Formats: sequence, structure tokens, C-alpha cells
Amino acid sequence: MTDDHTRRHVLRTAAVGGIGLALAGCLGGDSSGTKTAADDGDTGGGGEDTTAGGDSKESGDGGGSDAAVTIEVGPGGQFSYKPENPTVKTGETVKWVWKSNQHNIVVSGQPDGAEWEGTKGGTSKLFDKGYTYTHTFDTAGTYEYYCSPHKSVGMKAKVTVE
Ligand code: CU
Repeated sequence: MTDDHTRRHVLRTAAVGGIGLALAGCLGGDSSGTKTAADDGDTGGGGEDTTAGGDSKESGDGGGSDAAVTIEVGPGGQFSYKPENPTVKTGETVKWVWKSNQHNIVVSGQPDGAEWEGTKGGTSKLFDKGYTYTHTFDTAGTYEYYCSPHKSVGMKAKVTVE
């Protein structure tokens, strides 16, 4: 009788202890799993924002600077193109960057077979500071151009293509 009583007491104690450990294990597992998932989400979102921002725009500007020569249009508010008579090779690109307002590029002379048209809109269309225009010269010769509102004050220039 005495032995039997002692054995029941030991079994009951072991059972209660086991349930307690099982509950503690479940709670620990759930909470750590939730934290990990939330952290991953935040990190991913931050990465996407950074990538979408500057990279693609900057590489676009870099492509434009492949020009063999860059000419400033109206630098310092002066009525001039600078440099005024650069030389490039056939197949090279020239880039014009507007440094002040109300200028354009009207073609007044070019070699036979060339079809440079200058800035779009001819003499009637003007462009402001920050505008850029590029042209690739495929025919050798001398190209003359001017700015229509400022031709009378000497705003004209050339590009020589070898
Ligand atoms: Cu001008």
C-alpha cells in the first residue's frame, strides 16, 4: 500500500512539469518567429526606395556626356557660343548646353549632303537655361550656325568636322 501511494505521487508531479515545459516552448517559438518576419519586411522596403531614386537618372546624364565636345550657349549671359569653332571627327557628337535664356541654333551653312537642321522650330523657337541639344556629324566639312534673336550682336559660330 505504501509503495503504491508513493508511485502515483511521482507520476503526477512528472506530468505537471512536462505540460509546463511544453507551454513555455510554444510561447517562445511563436514570439521569435513573428519578430524575424517583421524585420525582413522593413529591410526590403528600405532597399527598394534607395535603388529607385538616383541611380537610373544619373546613368542617363552619363550617356549624354559621351559627346566629343560640349558647347556652352550664352555663358555668363553673353551672346556667344563657347567654344566658338571646335573641330571634331566624322561620327562624333557635339552637345550644346544652354547657360542663359532665349537662344537657339539656326543652321546657315553646311557641306553638300549634310542634313543638320539645328534646334527644332527654326528661327521662331527659343530655349532657356538648362536645355540641352546634341547632334552627331556624319559628313566632313564646315557647319555654320547662329542664334536668331542675337545674330545681329554677333551670336554665331562654327563646327569643323574632319
Ligand atoms: Cu541667343
